[in-house]
Amino acid sequence: MTSRIALLFVHKSVFLLLLLLLIIQIVACLSREEDTISAGVVIKDPQTIVSQNRIYKLGFFTPSNTTNRYLGIFFAFSQETLIWIANRDKPLTDSSGAVAISRDGNLVLLDGTNQTVWSTNLTTSPVNSTVRILDTGNLVLQEEASGDTLWESFSQPLDVQVQGMRLTQNVNTGKQVRLTAWRNATDPAIGSFAMGLDVMSGTLQLYIWDEGRPHWRSGPWNSLSFLGIKKLFYAYLDGFNQVTNDSAGNFFFSPPQQNDMHIISSVNYSGSLSRKAWNGMEWDVVMACPENECDVYGTCGPFGSCNALESPICSCLRGFEPANEEEWGRGNWTNGCRRKNQLQCGGDGFARLKNMKVPDFAKPLPSRVQDECQAICRRNCSCIAYAYDNNIGCMFWSNTLIDTQDFGSVGVNLYIRLSASEFESNKRRNLYIIIGVAVGFVCISIMMFIAWWLIVKRKGNKAQDTRNFEAGQMFTADSTAIVLKNESKVNIGDLPKFTFEMLANATNQFHEDNLLGRGGFGPVYKGVLSNEKEIAVKRLSAESGQGMQEFMNEVIVISKLQHKNLVKLLGGCVEKEEKILIYEYMPNKSLDACLFGTTNPTKKLLDWNMRSSIIEGIGRGILYLHRDSRLRIIHRDLKPSNVLLDQDWNPKISDFGMARIFGGNEDHGRTARVVGTYGYMAPEYGMEGRFSEKSDVYSFGVLILEIIKGKKNTHYFNEELSLSLIGYAWKMWNEGNGLSFVEESIASRETEEEMDRCIQIGLLCVQEYPKDRPSIEIVLPMLSRDIVDLPVPKQPVFAENGSTPGPNGSTQQNVYSNNELTLSVLDGR
Ligand SMILES: *[C@@H]1O[C@H](CO)[C@@H](O)[C@H](O)[C@H]1NC(C)=O
Ligand SMILES: *[C@@H]1O[C@H](CO)[C@@H](O)[C@H](O)[C@H]1NC(C)=O
Ligand SMILES: *[C@@H]1O[C@H](CO)[C@@H](O)[C@H](O)[C@H]1NC(C)=O
Ligand SMILES: *[C@@H]1O[C@H](CO)[C@@H](O)[C@H](O)[C@H]1NC(C)=O
Ligand SMILES: *[C@@H]1O[C@H](CO)[C@@H](O)[C@H](O)[C@H]1NC(C)=O
Ligand SMILES: *[C@@H]1O[C@H](CO)[C@@H](O)[C@H](O)[C@H]1NC(C)=O
Ligand SMILES: *[C@@H]1O[C@H](CO)[C@@H](O)[C@H](O)[C@H]1NC(C)=O
Ligand SMILES: *[C@@H]1O[C@H](CO)[C@@H](O)[C@H](O)[C@H]1NC(C)=O
Ligand SMILES: *[C@@H]1O[C@H](CO)[C@@H](O)[C@H](O)[C@H]1NC(C)=O
Repeated sequence: MTSRIALLFVHKSVFLLLLLLLIIQIVACLSREEDTISAGVVIKDPQTIVSQNRIYKLGFFTPSNTTNRYLGIFFAFSQETLIWIANRDKPLTDSSGAVAISRDGNLVLLDGTNQTVWSTNLTTSPVNSTVRILDTGNLVLQEEASGDTLWESFSQPLDVQVQGMRLTQNVNTGKQVRLTAWRNATDPAIGSFAMGLDVMSGTLQLYIWDEGRPHWRSGPWNSLSFLGIKKLFYAYLDGFNQVTNDSAGNFFFSPPQQNDMHIISSVNYSGSLSRKAWNGMEWDVVMACPENECDVYGTCGPFGSCNALESPICSCLRGFEPANEEEWGRGNWTNGCRRKNQLQCGGDGFARLKNMKVPDFAKPLPSRVQDECQAICRRNCSCIAYAYDNNIGCMFWSNTLIDTQDFGSVGVNLYIRLSASEFESNKRRNLYIIIGVAVGFVCISIMMFIAWWLIVKRKGNKAQDTRNFEAGQMFTADSTAIVLKNESKVNIGDLPKFTFEMLANATNQFHEDNLLGRGGFGPVYKGVLSNEKEIAVKRLSAESGQGMQEFMNEVIVISKLQHKNLVKLLGGCVEKEEKILIYEYMPNKSLDACLFGTTNPTKKLLDWNMRSSIIEGIGRGILYLHRDSRLRIIHRDLKPSNVLLDQDWNPKISDFGMARIFGGNEDHGRTARVVGTYGYMAPEYGMEGRFSEKSDVYSFGVLILEIIKGKKNTHYFNEELSLSLIGYAWKMWNEGNGLSFVEESIASRETEEEMDRCIQIGLLCVQEYPKDRPSIEIVLPMLSRDIVDLPVPKQPVFAENGSTPGPNGSTQQNVYSNNELTLSVLDGR
């Protein structure tokens, strides 16, 4: 020993090394904690046990501003985040507590005098049990011999739901496992708020209760999302959460499984549910409910409707008036509204309310057809409202309509039953309006006629050029069934008119050299007006049979739209046989022209940043079409040649010749005439003619993958692996090798994660079943990372070399020829 010390004095460095080793040893000793408590072991305050993955700890703690001690489970990296507490209601007053397995096999918490403060209270005494804290944070009491779980802490949650913890309700007994909030910031005893699920009324909804009364409601779960949560919140939940049930009638709600992320949902003592993600330092709140006063249950009372964007926020549903005018005027809405005209049952009608959070107490009835819902509701006099959701089917209401919200944008159409007289008064009012308008119209027409007559008289036949723009031909925005009585007379509405002569001069008599490309119904030329302004001129070709309809469609659709990511229509020209549309000129042509081809000089400019901003821009354009404009529009022919690029490389969607406009209550259609482009059509559209927003999402998915790869879907075939573009993307992404799918010139380790993510989003969009594809308002936050966690895409249908078996094992090509579907454009150029 002495010689050793002497040696150490000689070799200072060795001494330091040994000291270091000693310290490491001590630290290791201190932190070598078990994950189990077995019989005979006593864990005394402040000892802890820790889960094998070292994420969760069981031990004693003191809430801030108190001296009370509690036994609980908390995150090892965030010790103030408790996920379970044993003695919520019975704090220890000093640090003499101990936890052990009692002689009867229960887990018990003892105080300094060996009194049992808390126990697992099992009635059947197990022999030789152990307690283990699992990697999920669940504390389990197991019978050693059999390994059976006798008790678990997940069955008595605190106010936090961690991954793997399920909230449940039994449909037969109504018994729930739910989160219970603290009483206040310093007292973990059961407070007034609780959160859980309720399936008893037929649909599954989440609730926050305040002393048992509903405080917030998620709206029905439709197997993808909750219908009553506006905007992003449901995007986080959309398709990620799991709702399952077992044969015993238990329903389970659990948050998504994350690999490396810690995400928790918790309800605080003021009744707010928030979802938080650990950022390495603290918990980021990613969403919170209720978001505003409207989200608070029943703010506007029965038959009231809440709109957070309006002031006052409460109004009565159509056909209803305040039950107590005076209180309502004072802003006390609790009494709600009452019906103006009593129902007669037989002659009642239904009024549609758009973009609603549906009321509470929906009775669902699975139905595949929306029309059925009204028929069923009409037949039953106690049915006062109905709604339809693709995944749930019909929903009916009787008695009352409470906790209804007007979302303004997203939401469900709610149809409420009103007395026939409600509609009559409306009809009468409409009649007055119509008469008024008609009288005005006649007056104005007479005046205009006189003015015109005077001008003609003065200018002789100089008016010839504009004669084709006579008023009279009208088109309704809600229908694409355009009946052209006289094709030479076309109303281009308020658009500026160009003369044919002007356009012919601008385009050098439509010279070949000015040809920019071919759009849906004809060639597109570059033109320069006399004021130097550059334009793009699309001329309906005489030989194109479908052309006229597409031309009209384009005029109708595009003249009503205005968005940064949609091409702008500047005017039109209809003269004799000529039908021409004039657009803003896009110096950088189309995505198709810039992106494809190996020797393309513009391609160098399209680095990763540029490409991802193009992808986002296209997404915004689609969102505008699907959601934000006054109309709901399905483009049906999204492809690179229909995405134009302005001088700043902003993408602009063009070519609305095949777009379909939808009224408020429909969201999908079916057609015998499949138009679109092979390679971009969703399977259900190409094969069965069914189209919806989700078929545009599919095309967008293909676009995303093409932009990343720099190759055209239809022109790509991986010889080596014998795979199509989508198939190749799928294979590479699935093997965790997304970077090798990315075009070589832009592939970089630095942006690998971003690229990988983008490929994943593309793959999510090209999934076979429309219901699996995210809607565009989900895709955008995915792209912008407002949604962090992406679901795992399913294998796309065209993963194998283009020819996927159709419904009867026939190939794609066969399906087309069998059904004699027309593909208006087979591969743009
Ligand atoms: C604890 O007490 C301090 C001082 O009174 C106060 O500022 C703080 O907010 C309290 N903390 C909690 C969690 O109540
Ligand atoms: C509590 O029980 C333990 C073990 O059974 C014993 O060692 C200890 O003295 C007891 N403490 C008191 C205060 O009875
Ligand atoms: C166990 O039973 C006792 C007495 O019946 C009761 O006071 C206590 O709350 C129960 N503890 C648990 C955890 O159920
Ligand atoms: C319980 O554990 C003790 C000691 O570990 C052992 O002797 C006994 O056989 C066990 N009993 C059973 C039923 O497993
Ligand atoms: C929390 O609640 C307990 C018991 O209800 C009370 O004694 C305490 O003062 C409260 N603390 C705060 C900060 O309100
Ligand atoms: C789950 O619930 C549905 C309807 O509530 C029922 O049809 C189905 O059989 C249940 N699943 C299981 C596994 O029991
Ligand atoms: C409860 O959570 C919400 C949302 O995170 C937050 O705004 C609110 O301040 C919290 N309330 C308390 C008392 O901490
Ligand atoms: C609103 O009206 C209800 C019923 O008349 C009454 O009980 C309640 O106290 C009123 N609330 C307010 C804030 O005045
Ligand atoms: C009518 O609807 C009510 C409530 O939804 C329901 O209880 C009743 O059974 C229905 N009656 C008929 C004849 O369908």
